[in-house]
Amino acid sequence: MALSQEEINHIQSVASIVDVISSYINLEKKGKNYFGLCPFHDDHAPSLSVSEDKKIYTCFVCGHTGNVFSFVKDYENVSFLEAVKIVADKCGIDVDVDVKTNTRFDRFYEAYDLAVKYYQNNIKTAEGKKALEYLHKRGLTDELIKEFDIGFASKTNDTLSKLLLNKGYKEQELIDIGISNKSNTIYDLFRNRIVFPIHDSKGHPVAFSGRIYEQVDEAKYINTKETQIFKKGEILFNYHRAINEAKKMKKLILVEGQMDAIRIYSEGVKNVCATMGTALTNEHVKLLKKLNVEIVLCFDNDSAGEKATLAAGELLSKEGIELSILRISGAKDPDEYILANGVDKYKEAVDHAIKFFDFKLNILKKNKDFNKVDDVSAYVNSVIKELNKTNDSILIDLTINRLSEEYGIDKNVLLNKVIKVEDTKTLTVTTKPRVKKEKNIRLLELLLYYMMNDTKYIKVFEKELSYIDNEKYQVICDEILAFYLKYNYINIADFISYSIESDSYETILDIIDNNINTELSDQDYLALIDKIKLINDENKIMQLKNKLKSTSDINEKLKITDEIAKLKKRDV
Ligand code: CTP
Ligand code: MN
Repeated sequence: MALSQEEINHIQSVASIVDVISSYINLEKKGKNYFGLCPFHDDHAPSLSVSEDKKIYTCFVCGHTGNVFSFVKDYENVSFLEAVKIVADKCGIDVDVDVKTNTRFDRFYEAYDLAVKYYQNNIKTAEGKKALEYLHKRGLTDELIKEFDIGFASKTNDTLSKLLLNKGYKEQELIDIGISNKSNTIYDLFRNRIVFPIHDSKGHPVAFSGRIYEQVDEAKYINTKETQIFKKGEILFNYHRAINEAKKMKKLILVEGQMDAIRIYSEGVKNVCATMGTALTNEHVKLLKKLNVEIVLCFDNDSAGEKATLAAGELLSKEGIELSILRISGAKDPDEYILANGVDKYKEAVDHAIKFFDFKLNILKKNKDFNKVDDVSAYVNSVIKELNKTNDSILIDLTINRLSEEYGIDKNVLLNKVIKVEDTKTLTVTTKPRVKKEKNIRLLELLLYYMMNDTKYIKVFEKELSYIDNEKYQVICDEILAFYLKYNYINIADFISYSIESDSYETILDIIDNNINTELSDQDYLALIDKIKLINDENKIMQLKNKLKSTSDINEKLKITDEIAKLKKRDV
């Protein structure tokens, strides 16, 4: 069902734009407005300003402007209606709206839903008995197996493929979505394996990871290949289940293996997800950044895990994500650690995770003999090299103090080695190209801005001017009047929702962005109207003069001259 404009406006009036935006980025109050790092460009200083009064936000660097819905729409990359639904959910308002997006993929999701059910059913059969026993042996209860929809792919070659073909799927579709493969005939991709469904961030199952349970000489895990709905670099195992808890705890634990995630989750620590052995990608980082929480990296306790921690850590910290590192010891991975030490010990370890920078220092210290001058020098130099990668002046200061104390090195010597970040880094900011507009256009934009803010300005406009001598802006003016006529009030935020589908939408946002800091005053408005009247008259005079030139009829000429005189008189 579609939502009416009134319902949309109601949701907006109830929603606190500051609360909603705060659920994505940190905002700080300064004066009347709130400020935060703009998520729509590579922001280094808080450039996004949010006004609770006006219920809009604007970035004074990249110019991104809008209301609570446009923020969610662009941040989450969803449709307008979906954004409205998300905002409504956040405010606890029930909306009866079916926001199915990506309908193109619905067929594929349905195939996966069926596959999940089919595999789940298998695990209860005689053939699945051994697989189930294996899971039980690893301490997974039936409830947990159910919660994670863990299933079993039987030894038969093509049962799932046949089942889906019978449901009307085409062979090629099943191959394309990674459920089947074909040599001479079509066959199932997973056979004789325990299968773990993998979900996208919205919770649709989109792939499987299949584990051996009795075999030898076979890959421990095989996974669905990359498909249209399963972009490996964009999906983290258990992400959709972890989101809420992560936001609540302001923390998300990131592990390597799905069994690690399942173990941690099953012990009640639900803010956990897994990379499934793949390297962390920039897309993963985006997904994590959205949560606006601290990330605790807890990869396996081997050198590959250490390397992966370093690589992932660099990516995450580059994005300004708060980051801690937990290196477990005495066990191969978090799963085994918890089995050996219990979850409380693990939780404690998570609470004591160290900062990424300290983790790097620990690595640099490895294999060094600090009784040897050469080793100390090598260590200190490599620390300075790391410091030169950051522009966190507090971190630089603390580290220099520490090095100076620990190794008895003169602070100034160390400081001199740290390159002043301001000298080396030129801030790359994507500034919005502010198109220089001619003055008359700026006045028209200001007029429209006033009208979007208050009906009293619309009334004065209707009485004093009633039209705009510019086609593009007249269209927007008509939209404002239409809104006013229909709802008998106006405010910027609701007008944005109203015009979101219109061709003038971008211009409207531009007008708001350019005038947002204008203090509205009745007196200024009247003066503005006068100026625009004058411009209109000048335009009119120009047109009349042209007409005068092209006419030879003397009566007509007299009439035009008269009109011009009247207009000129009015303007003095
Ligand atoms: N992996 C994979 N293919 C493999 C091995 C591993 O895709 N041949 C992925 C899996 O997602 C796995 C993760 O990498 O969860 C980590 O691998 P590993 O540490 O070897 O497995 P565990 O998570 O410890 O799995 P288990 O405890 O079941 O052995
Ligand atoms: Mn393991």
